[in-house]
Amino acid sequence: MTNADKDRVVIFDTTLRDGEQSPGATMTHDEKLEIAGLLDEMGVDIIEAGFPIASEGDFRAVSEIAKNSKNSVICGLARANTKDIDRCWEAIRHAEQPRIHTFIGTSPLHRAIPNLTQDEMAERIHETVTHARNLCDNVQWSPMDATRTEWDYLARVVEIAIKAGATTINIPDTVGYTAPVESADLIRRLINEVPGGDEVVFATHCHNDLGMATANSLAAVAGGARQIECTINGLGERAGNTALEEVVMALKVRNDIMPYYTNVDSTKIMHISRRVATVSGFNVQYNKAIVGKNAFAHESGIHQDGMLKNAETFEIMRPSDVGLAETNIVMGKHSGRAALRAKLKDLGFELGANQLDDVFYRFKDLADRKKEVYDEDLVALVAAGEDEA
Ligand code: KIV
Ligand code: ZN
Repeated sequence: MTNADKDRVVIFDTTLRDGEQSPGATMTHDEKLEIAGLLDEMGVDIIEAGFPIASEGDFRAVSEIAKNSKNSVICGLARANTKDIDRCWEAIRHAEQPRIHTFIGTSPLHRAIPNLTQDEMAERIHETVTHARNLCDNVQWSPMDATRTEWDYLARVVEIAIKAGATTINIPDTVGYTAPVESADLIRRLINEVPGGDEVVFATHCHNDLGMATANSLAAVAGGARQIECTINGLGERAGNTALEEVVMALKVRNDIMPYYTNVDSTKIMHISRRVATVSGFNVQYNKAIVGKNAFAHESGIHQDGMLKNAETFEIMRPSDVGLAETNIVMGKHSGRAALRAKLKDLGFELGANQLDDVFYRFKDLADRKKEVYDEDLVALVAAGEDEA
């Protein structure tokens, strides 16, 4: 695919590589296989399965995922040296569709670490991308910390990588430093000004240090990127990566202003979100967009009343769009009479006006003392009222 396929955005999931790099998020071999299977099933185009040179365990997991994947391209990460790239190829070569992803830090701060001059680094990029391309037809190259790399140098090395055979150029915002306008402009300039820029796919890889990863990824798409790199639940180093569920649902819900599509079956989102939370040990915050416990929950009387009349009043997507059975009407001190009547009806109680008034009074009293009033509390309130009558 090239940037000419205008409307399709490829989803590249890196939960098993960048996500697993979150301190404390390590997954077992079997857990990685399970998550890869779920990603494959839900229509993720590319799975970055790990960093094969990092450990024996990573190598084995990537190899097995490569052998088992049915639909997705399987990608492994490698630094810019032949040993890493060869090990990566060994792990992914049995995949139906393998991809080598090789990277090097190109910003002044990152260039200082291996102590390479600009020319020496350019030469290294040429050699390593050429080496990867001799092994595999599908090569992705990333200038790490691209968003803090000088424009002239970034343009120069991107051109070198394209000439050496990279088929996807990923532009990482490694430290979550960019902002939406800049993210869009950078991709637009690279496509328009780098020779060969319109013949490869540009990818965006954002971190969430300033809470802008999703906005920056979508802006990059507006600028011409056609691959978004992301993770389930936004798992990833420090404040995490772009959350897959957010970009997929944003493109779906606001297709009127972002006319792009992905292959992801959004109804599988909630299940994989819960599995990733469980196996990584990283709980999802209650108010996390799309997959948080409260993302489809309503407690205030005005909202509950609106929801009972027309769900679109306070929901821009249906819970079933992400694989949730139903909206959660939470009974608490902000709930009103209409919600109580509806809840009691669901529980099998059709109360007359006076009885409802009485239960409503007791319910408010209880809700003032308790954060959430559960179904069994309501049943007890009705029963207590009947005993007294
Ligand atoms: O954030 C980053 O720069 C990365 C690269 C390895 C692509 O994860
Ligand atoms: Zn990253």
